[in-house]
Amino acid sequence: MSDAESCARWLLSTSLTRGQIETLANHLTVGETYFFRDECSFDVLEHHVLPPLIRQCEQAGRPLHIWSAGCCTGEEPYSIAMLLDRLTAPSKAWNARILATDINPAFLRKAAEGIYAEWSFRATPAWVRERYFVEGRHSRFEIRRAIRDRVEFAYLNLADDVYPSPTNGTSDVDVIFCRNVLMYFTPLQAEKIVENFRRSLVSGGWLVVSPAETSNSLFSRFSAVSFSGATFYCKSPNTKLQDMATIFPAALSCQEPDACPLECLVNDASPATVTREMPLHQERWSTPFQWEADDRAAHIHANKGSLVEAAEYCERAVAADKLNPARLYLLAAIRREQGQDELAAQSLTRALYLDPRFVLAHFALGNICLAQSSRGEAERHFRNTLDLLHRHSPDETVPESEGLSAGQLAEIVTSVLSGLSST
Ligand SMILES: C[S@@+](CC[C@H](N)C(=O)[O-])C[C@H]1O[C@@H](n2cnc3c(N)ncnc32)[C@H](O)[C@@H]1O
Repeated sequence: MSDAESCARWLLSTSLTRGQIETLANHLTVGETYFFRDECSFDVLEHHVLPPLIRQCEQAGRPLHIWSAGCCTGEEPYSIAMLLDRLTAPSKAWNARILATDINPAFLRKAAEGIYAEWSFRATPAWVRERYFVEGRHSRFEIRRAIRDRVEFAYLNLADDVYPSPTNGTSDVDVIFCRNVLMYFTPLQAEKIVENFRRSLVSGGWLVVSPAETSNSLFSRFSAVSFSGATFYCKSPNTKLQDMATIFPAALSCQEPDACPLECLVNDASPATVTREMPLHQERWSTPFQWEADDRAAHIHANKGSLVEAAEYCERAVAADKLNPARLYLLAAIRREQGQDELAAQSLTRALYLDPRFVLAHFALGNICLAQSSRGEAERHFRNTLDLLHRHSPDETVPESEGLSAGQLAEIVTSVLSGLSST
């Protein structure tokens, strides 16, 4: 192809073979993931959703069926397997099937291998690594076989009409995890996928998306059940929302629209909510809920280019959750967009104080120094970036980079450094 545009035009005008799609997927998909991502969702799953489902399956004498759609390199389905392991009494064998699918064969290979580096454990509770991994050489952690063998990985393109089907394990599913995946589809395609998911679920089954993907219109055929800190979608065609409160007594929180910033900020209409007393865990969850809402609002405003609002929400999120370097990095990105490099540099320095190995913070500081003509300082930050990157394999996704691999960033930094030394 003579240029990228002709290539894109050709790709859109022809139907592709599976081989071509796999080649594209290897280059285009975003592999950002880590163990127990969005901890609140896993809390809800562990305390409220899985226990009744496990009981129901036991009574019905069938295995619990979970599907992680867009599983990336396996951190999500393995996290689910670990939760199930925690929920099962040591004397009992657990009866569950965890299917994990993705479009990118390289991700699936890495997932099946089950060997991970530090970045897969960011924001992951300590017990996860202690209990379920064996440390190998070069700071690599291998998942224990008992968990690895629980997850079945397979290729599945969510845009294909191949599900629900018993032949690929996508029918009669109890819980579908599809987090941080729907955001990559056109609205029409996403609607089609969500409808297929609905058909894949058993009655009373759950669809779990990321906090950034909740939407009243996209999931209008589901009951949106707001737990403290997370909204899950339930396929309950014959159940009124009020009755859901009876089915999941401990799970439903009082989510008045005003007290529900996640929903109100982004959802297109006011959410259907179930009014009940606050759950026992409310106190523990109320604060993270607020800062996650602020964090999300900051992202949304930043993406829309409303930088003043974005900065305001982000400052609030930072104030409520002072030890989170990723939030400081977001604040720095917003400040840079606003042309406030000094404030951006302060946030990045704080982020590095909290996490000296935060690669993108070093890189961003290098860029700020470069813009301020502090060449020596810039060089120092770029060298730090490169040092950190070299501790990872080139195909690992750099945290907070929305898909940039360690190899790609190393190439960029190397080229900037060689530019600096030649001038
Ligand atoms: C950002 S990752 C999300 C991983 C994980 N669910 C999480 O939230 O941490 C997005 C994943 O969606 C996969 N994906 C993108 N398009 C897809 C498609 N058409 N069919 C199946 N998987 C797809 C990508 O390969 C990638 O692994």
